[in-house]
Amino acid sequence: MLSEEIRQSFLDFFKKKGHKIIPSSSLIPDDVSVLLTTAGMQQFKKYYTGELNALREFGSQRTASIQKCFRTTDIEEVGDRTHLTFFEMLGNFSFGPAGSDNPEDLSAAGYFKRSAIFWAYEFVADVLGINFERIAISVFKGDNEIPFDEESYKIWHDEIGLPKDKIILGERADNFWGPTGDEGPCGPSSEIYVDGVEIWNLVFNEYYKEKNGVFKKTGNLGVDTGMGFERLASVLQGKDDVFETDIFMPLIAKINELAPGLEQKIIRILADHLRSSIFLISDGVRPSNKETGYILRRLLRRILAYSVKYDIHADLFPETLEIINDKFGEIYPEIKKIKEILSVLEEERLKFEEAVSRGVKEIGKYPEIDGKTAFYLYETFGLPFELILELGPKEAVKNLGRKDFDKESQKHQEISRAGITKKFGGHGLILDTGELKAVDEEEMKKVIRLHTATHLLQWALREVLGNEVGQTGSDINAERLRFDFSFGRKMTTEEIKKTEESVNQKIQENLPVYFKEMPKSEAEKTGALRFFKTQYPEVVKVYFIGFISAEFCGGPHVNSTSEIGKFKITKEESVSAGTRRIKATLIS
Ligand code: ALA
Repeated sequence: MLSEEIRQSFLDFFKKKGHKIIPSSSLIPDDVSVLLTTAGMQQFKKYYTGELNALREFGSQRTASIQKCFRTTDIEEVGDRTHLTFFEMLGNFSFGPAGSDNPEDLSAAGYFKRSAIFWAYEFVADVLGINFERIAISVFKGDNEIPFDEESYKIWHDEIGLPKDKIILGERADNFWGPTGDEGPCGPSSEIYVDGVEIWNLVFNEYYKEKNGVFKKTGNLGVDTGMGFERLASVLQGKDDVFETDIFMPLIAKINELAPGLEQKIIRILADHLRSSIFLISDGVRPSNKETGYILRRLLRRILAYSVKYDIHADLFPETLEIINDKFGEIYPEIKKIKEILSVLEEERLKFEEAVSRGVKEIGKYPEIDGKTAFYLYETFGLPFELILELGPKEAVKNLGRKDFDKESQKHQEISRAGITKKFGGHGLILDTGELKAVDEEEMKKVIRLHTATHLLQWALREVLGNEVGQTGSDINAERLRFDFSFGRKMTTEEIKKTEESVNQKIQENLPVYFKEMPKSEAEKTGALRFFKTQYPEVVKVYFIGFISAEFCGGPHVNSTSEIGKFKITKEESVSAGTRRIKATLIS
């Protein structure tokens, strides 16, 4: 079966079963507790909890989708036959209450284990034509916290008729899924295997995991299934390598044509990274040194570094972008912005060529690369830590660990901060946090107002430019705030105006500003923004502005936003590659 037919038959099948077909959501999720979309259910989280009503929104409690997903956990595994960073996931979903749960019921009502299992089996056996003999499944065997999923076992065994030896009783690690992020719907799962390859995961959301880690039984029963598209295609096309399916073949052929003679592992990595970078960019991610921007940068710099290392003279970007467009443009029209995507790719190439490619050559010269040298290579040439590990001579990097690198980076921060204190020292500073400086009470009031404005500014920038924006620096004195953030290009006049207006709007709304003190691990779970270069103590303060902003921060701040006055952006400029700077003042 060709990949296009697989997609279509999946959607047609679930449409007939009363499901509303929903387009894929962006790779950048609404859910701030996760960086990227990793599963089909993510865009539906609020329907599971009942916060939003599926029947009202979609006309059905049943939905189905093909979702773009990205899993960073697999980055290091890419290069073998099955691992990918970007992939598509086919899924059908139901949001409670569960209704009759009769597979004959083709209405818009919710369903649960019985319908989900019957339909999954029908799709695999009848639509995909997979012989009964090739199918095995797993169910959750239970542990001291969550009981054995006997219901699913019985449906598979007693009703579908799978023999006992085709039913694996799985542990929590394999047969309990979710939540994505810190909290949300989750539950036992039942996996379907074909020829020993897991193709489909049926999750029965009977629980809600709370932020404090407790699993609560939920009245909102839900179904969340996910079938890895590339893996399914490889099974159906008789390949044991996802890169040999029709999803990847044209791209692999193009890479072979542009860069003949590469070893297979490198071709697979290039194919995966090219495809995933293009999808990330089309959803608005831009290379930077933080979060999603850093993930993208790592992918792109690996492609570019390989070009140097393996002497690839052709420009891989334009032609592979075209191939990927031919393959996916119809389904995901956002990747049709060829010009824009290409300009992001080319800009990153230029930055790479200015410095990093020299670094790739330089790196071979060191007999030993310790944390200090690695940090030097990063600072001077922009070589991401992971690439230093990968490209450095094996002997030279054998003792290099992430911790050594982070420690060095931390030291560097301290040195620059010490520099600031010294400069201001001796002037009778009454407030000097490294970020805020004031010499008397009057100045202190001003810097505190500007400090809260800085938090609003970060919030507004993320609203206007997207979640790849993150603080890389901040400096506040009585005259102005200065905020550095990760973002790949100049802001437009419109965007600057919109940011300024958003901040002023929130000032007018007079939102309360308050903090909570909590253990760092707990604070991390709240999804509060933090400044990654800082090492935080075990107990931290998280400052909140209304419900819109939460940041790790020592304060001090105003009590409510109207104290800030009128906010004005005076300058937007570049600091370095991927980092912008805004200066702003208060007019009253
Ligand atoms: N959300 C489930 C998964 O990703 C279906 O496996």
